[in-house]
Amino acid sequence: MNFKFWSFPIFTILLLGGIIWVALNDLNFYADANFKCLKCHKGFQSLENIVKEKGITKDEELRNLIRKGPKAGLHTTSSEEDLEKAIKYLQLKK
Ligand code: HEC
Repeated sequence: MNFKFWSFPIFTILLLGGIIWVALNDLNFYADANFKCLKCHKGFQSLENIVKEKGITKDEELRNLIRKGPKAGLHTTSSEEDLEKAIKYLQLKK
């Protein structure tokens, strides 16, 4: 009797926990592919294309180009956080 009484709430908690876990992971996923760089960098000028074209493989190279390169003026509004997200998104080496 005891077993039956407890098994339902435990099952419900595990199920809810699973749903919440999946939901949170999904939110993180969307946040990662939705940072500000991508508002300007779409399609032909996507970050993937730029990185490939310029042969950027390290996070330092991307950082220098954006902070000190010829196009640094276009990126003064880009936050450090967005830059980090871009580096993760592009899977550049540290
Ligand atoms: C306000 C719009 C805008 C935002 C936001 C933006 N960019 Fe750009 N970015 C541009 C433009 C415009 C260019 C110049 C494209 C060209 O040369 O044809 C550019 C060029 C670049 C280049 C090439 C630089 C060079 O010297 O040739 C890189 C790399 C780049 N962006 C990365 C990023 C990253 C990473 C972010 C986010 C942190 C970002 N951009 C955010 C507009 C933007």
